[in-house]
Amino acid sequence: MTVKFTLNGKPTSVDVDPATPILWTLRDSLGMTGTKFGCGMALCGACTVHLNGQAIRSCITPVSAAEGQKITTIEAQAADKVGKAVEDAWVRNDVAQCGYCQSGQIMSATALLKNNRAPSDSDIDAAMAGNICRCGTYVRIRAAIHDAAKTLA
Ligand code: FES
Ligand code: FES
Repeated sequence: MTVKFTLNGKPTSVDVDPATPILWTLRDSLGMTGTKFGCGMALCGACTVHLNGQAIRSCITPVSAAEGQKITTIEAQAADKVGKAVEDAWVRNDVAQCGYCQSGQIMSATALLKNNRAPSDSDIDAAMAGNICRCGTYVRIRAAIHDAAKTLA
């Protein structure tokens, strides 16, 4: 079945089983490998993308849910004001360790800052609770989100 949606601002159509998770549609059918597979069960956040601006777990969301909707991935963050502020703050704060979780972390942080330009520590902890980092970069993630918020103020 052909599923049509807007991907990073571009009209996109893909011929897949509508039950295919968005994660695998992005990675296998569209060659967008910035979005990572971690647990496959909505537990780790590695696969986080935005669906109409909301952070979602693409490993458990069927591509049929994206029909006519807007998907945004890590590949488009540098072209977005908030996404770019988050990426720049990530670099300044040297957040990434192995890097595997970081695409998902940046997508969750960007969704948070789009809705709340001055998040408190507890706002950050709540928004980022579903994104697990095996390397334990949580302190730098929190610092980078505060840093990005300052540059957007
Ligand atoms: S791979 Fe989707 S939440 Fe872990
Ligand atoms: S930086 Fe290694 S899992 Fe997060």
